[in-house]
Amino acid sequence: MNKKYYITTPIYYPSAEFHIGHCYTTIIADAIARYKRLAGYDVFFQTGTDEHGLKIETKAEEANVTPKEYVDKIILNAKDLWASLDISYDYFIRTTDEHHYTRVQKIFKTLYDKGDIYKGEYKGLYCVPCESFWTESQLIDGKCPDCGREVNFVTEEAYFFRLSKYQKKLEELYESEPEFILPVSRKNEMLNNFIKPGLEDLCVSRTSFKWGIPVDFDEKHVIYVWIDALTNYITSLGYPDETPEFKKYWPADLHLVGKEIVRFHTIIWPAILMALDLPLPHQVFGHGWLVIDGGKISKSLGNYKDPREYINTYGVDAVRYFALREVPFGSDGNFSESALITRTNADLCNILGNLVSRTIQMAIKYFGGVIEDKKCYEALDEDLLEATKDLKNKVDKKMDELKINEALDIIFDLLRKCNKYIDDTTPWSIAKDESKLDRLETVLYNLMEAIRVSATLLQAFIPSTANKIFAGLKIENNNFDNIYHKTPKYVLGDEKPANLFERIKEN
Ligand code: MSP
Repeated sequence: MNKKYYITTPIYYPSAEFHIGHCYTTIIADAIARYKRLAGYDVFFQTGTDEHGLKIETKAEEANVTPKEYVDKIILNAKDLWASLDISYDYFIRTTDEHHYTRVQKIFKTLYDKGDIYKGEYKGLYCVPCESFWTESQLIDGKCPDCGREVNFVTEEAYFFRLSKYQKKLEELYESEPEFILPVSRKNEMLNNFIKPGLEDLCVSRTSFKWGIPVDFDEKHVIYVWIDALTNYITSLGYPDETPEFKKYWPADLHLVGKEIVRFHTIIWPAILMALDLPLPHQVFGHGWLVIDGGKISKSLGNYKDPREYINTYGVDAVRYFALREVPFGSDGNFSESALITRTNADLCNILGNLVSRTIQMAIKYFGGVIEDKKCYEALDEDLLEATKDLKNKVDKKMDELKINEALDIIFDLLRKCNKYIDDTTPWSIAKDESKLDRLETVLYNLMEAIRVSATLLQAFIPSTANKIFAGLKIENNNFDNIYHKTPKYVLGDEKPANLFERIKEN
């Protein structure tokens, strides 16, 4: 049986239309999911939407529609966006799904019956836009540490999750699983800023708004945010029912999350799972943010476009490639249209597109498109042949470490080598000598094999381009099992394929 791999994105708030920042996480999750599928894993890739809460209730009121109507429209658009970005999710969970709804109620009741949830009174500081409670010591200059806005003092009857009880177990988890949180800097932040100072019990219900899942044994309360949101990762698989999906896919292998929600995924989520006696996810990766001009991407600042505009103008793989390649995974990075154009021209057009088109054109021109390995090697080939042979191992290693941008850079290193190989071997001058046709064919074959191997890996990152390359080479797509099965004979026909990327004019 194939090994399983369960990967998730956060479930996004459909309080406004999605922007390039949401695309960032989802594209990365998609590339990892595709990579694992190509490697033969039975992958379950989940994304979705986190639809409850005061913010959405308020937005819907402002728009004069019901909360459900409000979110339905955004989700329709989000699904369209994911389709235009070639996002290959296996399951899209909505927290308004009936299954999720009833399963969350059961989970809440189980925790209550076990004494891990109790009724008390909440007195504290609350940030409405972030839907987060804060302690005095967490505030920065008296304001919400996440968004910098005012917090309000509130008192209300509420249910609490006994988070404090799990302090020691969490410390042990961090100790025994050093790679539970990546990058390591985020782990230290969690430990030093949140766990070591002492965990407080967590407010998990609200009475001040209605748009949420009611506590079924105390209907005045709605289940508030984290027990509703975080449990999406298990309710989608059927939990608390013992479904085959749950047995197969849980625990998750990787929760990909933005740095601002690492805390919830590495403190609250494991504690809830411990309380439910469930195994913990293997890893939570907290990535950085895409920023615009150094600041947050924000609807109110009006500093972003619908990502579909970029896709329509530059193509889906220009956007995917930018998200995957531009920023070291884990750090913040700047997004701008001009950086997107520069990256597309430099890598996709000049390195990849040119190489594929030059190689295919030469194969057609000199051999009518029929190329076999004539094994007429020279010392000059060594570097390219070795690099082709090593490519998958090197990329695998980077992917295991979730160094996505470096994985791509290694593939592009090989493509750069191919371009240099053309410059060094100068096929057009070999072609002048009739006696050297076998050598010329070998050079082209070496190039085509390097392109094929690269395209096999590129399927995870820029799948539609990789498909075009396979179509241009007139071969079936490879997966990782047959990546090193050499193509016995390329038969391209005599029609020159369209360019993979057109150069974009820089303003
Ligand atoms: N609903 C919660 C998550 C619950 S998960 C159980 C939430 N939603 S959110 O809509 O605010 O989106 C959060 C995620 O979107 C971030 O964690 C991050 O993955 C992604 N991003 C949103 N803006 C982003 C950037 N500007 N840059 C990169 N990622 C961004 O928090």
